[in-house]
Amino acid sequence: MRNMEFVDTHTHNYDEMYPEAERDAVIERALAAGVKILIQADISSHERASMLALADRHPDCLRIMAGLYPGSVGDDWRDEVAAVEQTLRERKAVAVGEIGLDYHYGADTAQLQKEAFRVQLELACEHDLPVNIHLRDATEDFFSILEDCRHLHLRGNLHAFGGSAETFRRLERLGDWYVGIGGTVTFKNAGVARSITEIPMERILLETDAPYLAPVPYRGSRNESAHIPSIAAKIAEIKGLPLGEVARISTENAERLFALQKL
Ligand code: NI
Repeated sequence: MRNMEFVDTHTHNYDEMYPEAERDAVIERALAAGVKILIQADISSHERASMLALADRHPDCLRIMAGLYPGSVGDDWRDEVAAVEQTLRERKAVAVGEIGLDYHYGADTAQLQKEAFRVQLELACEHDLPVNIHLRDATEDFFSILEDCRHLHLRGNLHAFGGSAETFRRLERLGDWYVGIGGTVTFKNAGVARSITEIPMERILLETDAPYLAPVPYRGSRNESAHIPSIAAKIAEIKGLPLGEVARISTENAERLFALQKL
């Protein structure tokens, strides 16, 4: 495992499931596991100050996104998106995210979610940033919005990808798109394990979505970015590649999409 480097492309190290006093140790454990960059997915104005404070303490390894999470979209979404826009003006963000549609938990806010999503796609275009997408039970609306927004020349990734190889192919036809693979790939009978046999390594990003979705053998416990190598090892096994290749290619993918070298 020595010398292997990884990027966790979607994590919430600032989440309140990590007590404030423990957060630095959580990041140290990730670095010790070879995870050199940890990209913080943003949720809403309520958590943003914690995220920015943690990023300020770890400028070498933490990067931030700015975005309004679909589960946080409510009647005040315009104010929330204005706050996202302010963060994009004031801070160096590597993506607009996590944004998207979630009808599993938020069917009642579907219309507002669609509006907030479109406005944030426009923001990504204005700021020349990729988008980090959260999508659950809203695949057709997602693709119809993306089709409508082709003129924005968007690029990005579907985070916590759990879809079929066909969903990936639909996405790929829309431009420069990746899928984020996390702990669920290690679960027994995981559908995504079948999908990634058909998704090229050059389109795969690693992510934990910590503190959620811990991979086997940590399933059910609080997740950490330090578990990225377990996810990479499972992908290596499924694809029949050396672990070092999965580390190298996924890291290059993340560096390219999020322009990590330029920072
Ligand atoms: Ni997340």
